[in-house]
Amino acid sequence: MDLAQEPGSIPGKSEIMSYFDPRSGTLDRRVFADQALYDLEMRNIYARAWNFMCHESQIPNAGDYFINYIGEDQVIVVRDKQGEVQVLLNTCRHRGNALCRAEQGNAKSFVCSYHGWNYDLNGDLIGVPGLSSYYRKDFDKSQWGLAKAAQVDHFHGFYFATLDPDTPPLHDYLGEVGRIGLGLLVANGPVEVVDGVQKNVIDCNWKIAVDNLFDWYHVQYSHASAATAGFMDIAAILHPNNQMVMFGQYGHAISGPVIPEKMQAEIDTLSDEQRIALARSAADDVPRPPLRLRAAKELLGPVGVRCIGHPNIFPNLWVSTNGTQLSLRLPRGPFATEIWWFTVLPKEMPEEVKKKHIAFNTHLFGPAGMLEQDDGENWSQSTRASRGVKSRAYRHNISMGLGHDEVLTEGSTVSRVETTISEHAQRWLYTNWMNWMTADSWADIKTNHPAQPKGRV
Ligand code: FES
Ligand code: FE
Repeated sequence: MDLAQEPGSIPGKSEIMSYFDPRSGTLDRRVFADQALYDLEMRNIYARAWNFMCHESQIPNAGDYFINYIGEDQVIVVRDKQGEVQVLLNTCRHRGNALCRAEQGNAKSFVCSYHGWNYDLNGDLIGVPGLSSYYRKDFDKSQWGLAKAAQVDHFHGFYFATLDPDTPPLHDYLGEVGRIGLGLLVANGPVEVVDGVQKNVIDCNWKIAVDNLFDWYHVQYSHASAATAGFMDIAAILHPNNQMVMFGQYGHAISGPVIPEKMQAEIDTLSDEQRIALARSAADDVPRPPLRLRAAKELLGPVGVRCIGHPNIFPNLWVSTNGTQLSLRLPRGPFATEIWWFTVLPKEMPEEVKKKHIAFNTHLFGPAGMLEQDDGENWSQSTRASRGVKSRAYRHNISMGLGHDEVLTEGSTVSRVETTISEHAQRWLYTNWMNWMTADSWADIKTNHPAQPKGRV
């Protein structure tokens, strides 16, 4: 048993590169239970990555804001008076107090509740009480504006920000897999995020929650209760032998069911009207989004259009296609994760239908979601057991399907496998996690990120 590492000491690069062994598909549990590693994740992953902020529909007007996080940095995502989206660090430059306490709203400016410094919507410091009297005019406001994210950009109205000026442009960072992921939400036309982001904390490491979204192995067992309660028909959604894993750049991945090529060829012959009629006739008491319309193929490509699995945009944004939602898994120390759920629906959807979708999503995931109740308890116990001195010496097994699948490349810019239920996506996640954690800079990540899988994986 290796107990060499003192608690709290920062592990070296070779140590980190030993945490996941791609040859055996085993993982050191230390990755879930170490404060020093967590601190390194904040610096090497979250501060460098593009982090999802919000959708444009959440902040349509000047002064509209939404509070989010980049790792442990709390940020105000706000539309300024010129209509630009700013991502400002929510910390006053005087003594560091949080400027904005509400989770979302509209503001003319941000006034600090401690001593009253006042910041414009673009972060400029515009008011300092006592500037003439106490400061004796010896103070340059222009030097004390709010800190900002290094880059802000959006893809189809989904806003992201990064703290690193060297992060590649959002479009390139997302790559084909990230663009398919968000594309799945907009494939049938313009969307909006409905009011009310559901938030709760689960006592688990954030990576356990990310691993789970790729995991179609647990569905039949862990979610048997949801099936028994009549909430869902597992056989109808599982498609165990029609599964696809796409290996996206920088650790993005998609894992889960895929429409077989032959079936897609039949769908391709249908008009949009026929697709909508088919989707309606297939609907149970919850109206599903219509089958993807013809234009979706152009947006998603011939492989992406067949995807009905789960994309994750590295590190922590899950595009849930079950009920068209986005889920952020925000790290809160090694042992806790704040889970946020955004429901994304077509703008044109009639209000009555919208209500049904919202009710369905609320029963699916989030604090009242049947599936998240099942999963959350398992994630907590997996994390809990990683803390034990003896328990953590036993590596996780992530070997399912290792060495059994041939990589396909046609029709897409990234590698994929089409196979049965597997753990390829989890192995890709940890292979990339090690790369991010040991890279010195973005230049290093760009040069040395794991190559697209080839041959047999
Ligand atoms: Fe904000 Fe003093 S901490 S004005
Ligand atoms: Fe689950």
